[in-house]
Amino acid sequence: MSAPHNIVFKATPGGNLRGEIRVSGDKSISHRAIMLGALAEGITKVSGFLEGEDCLATLAAFRAMGVHIYGPEQGQVTIYGVGLHGLQAPAAPLYLGNSGTSMRLLAGLMAGQAFDVVMAGDASLTRRPMKRVTVPLGQMGARIEASTTGTPPLKISGGQALRGIDYAMPVASAQVKSSLLLAGLYASGTTCVTEPAPTRDHTERMLSGFGYTIEREGNRVCLEGGGRLHAATIDVPADISSAAFFMVGASIAPGSDLMLQHVGINPTRIGVINILREMGADIELLNHREAGGEPVADIRVRSARLHGIRIPEDQVPLAIDEFPALFIAAACAEGETVLTGAEELRVKESDRIQVMADGLTALGIVANPTPDGIIIRGGRLGGGRIDSHGDHRIAMAFAMGALRADAEIMIEDCANVRTSFPNFLELAGEVGLGVSEQG
Ligand code: S3P
Repeated sequence: MSAPHNIVFKATPGGNLRGEIRVSGDKSISHRAIMLGALAEGITKVSGFLEGEDCLATLAAFRAMGVHIYGPEQGQVTIYGVGLHGLQAPAAPLYLGNSGTSMRLLAGLMAGQAFDVVMAGDASLTRRPMKRVTVPLGQMGARIEASTTGTPPLKISGGQALRGIDYAMPVASAQVKSSLLLAGLYASGTTCVTEPAPTRDHTERMLSGFGYTIEREGNRVCLEGGGRLHAATIDVPADISSAAFFMVGASIAPGSDLMLQHVGINPTRIGVINILREMGADIELLNHREAGGEPVADIRVRSARLHGIRIPEDQVPLAIDEFPALFIAAACAEGETVLTGAEELRVKESDRIQVMADGLTALGIVANPTPDGIIIRGGRLGGGRIDSHGDHRIAMAFAMGALRADAEIMIEDCANVRTSFPNFLELAGEVGLGVSEQG
């Protein structure tokens, strides 16, 4: 469960990153593997599964709905699928911890069930906007109650007849798209979702991998309800969002030469590589191959002199989870980096624009937040104490910042690193970052 007590990271200044590591499995793909495996007919075997709290919350939710799941053991999970109509009512509310992906994707899936469900989360998840899914799901015929401001807990009434809709999303969100497609499995007729900009397409790829017909045309994706899912074997690649911290660390720390193995490089996820390269980073992709329907490569990163850029807005959805790390890169770059069109960052696990601006300012960097982005002037990173506000990615980003800081950085409220990257400290230490947990 999340944040039992305040875990503080102490990151010592200087050093560099060298060696070869495989970061933990992709969070988005791990969630989807459990969901589709549970709803498929037959036995699904997953390897490389992320044993972080978020994905474990999804796993526990399906166990609570009667699905037999073995593991995870060293990333191996075996799921005895019950078919699209085989889930059973859980005995208690589903507790989803810090995981927005679990809550939003399950909202779509639960809307199509015969039973009622309540879904709740931790303090951060309880602040996050859910109208983006409850409104279009309502148009499909779902009955979902939220707080008056549209936040969790969500109470979903089962036994509703869903019908397909043709929905143009106002925000570029893979969670919303996925939620509607999953509800669409239970709907009569066709469910179509149009996105204003490309977002991660793991749901579409995995549905195809489970034998479900998906029609894609440009920025529109459609499926027919009433089909079946067939069990599959899924090799989950390493998470580019976790690799991103190491890409930034190796780029900013002189003398670094780091190999990140078996990283998912789905074109809808590689904004961080595109942006870092535009800033002057030295990133090489090697051994291109495919794993579980997803493109994968090894990534070699050597240190480089970075310069500030105006981040192209079309890269924002493709790097949406990587901005805390990218802001550290910007703080270590020469000149100014300007981000616009990224107001979504304000409703992630924390307000990532404000929390990063506060942290960078505390370390002596000029960082000015704007309503939809930030302006960061590269400079000398000092040491100091910053508050991650329980946001895993902010904690890990500042830990990497220590590589270029001139004194120790103490980072408060780091327990949630376990949600997405449980062995972060171990791997970071292995390649040369001096970071440890205090009390
Ligand atoms: C995710 C989609 C993104 C991302 C999140 C995981 C997913 O959220 O930030 O960490 O697995 O679909 P949005 O769809 O809200 O942008």
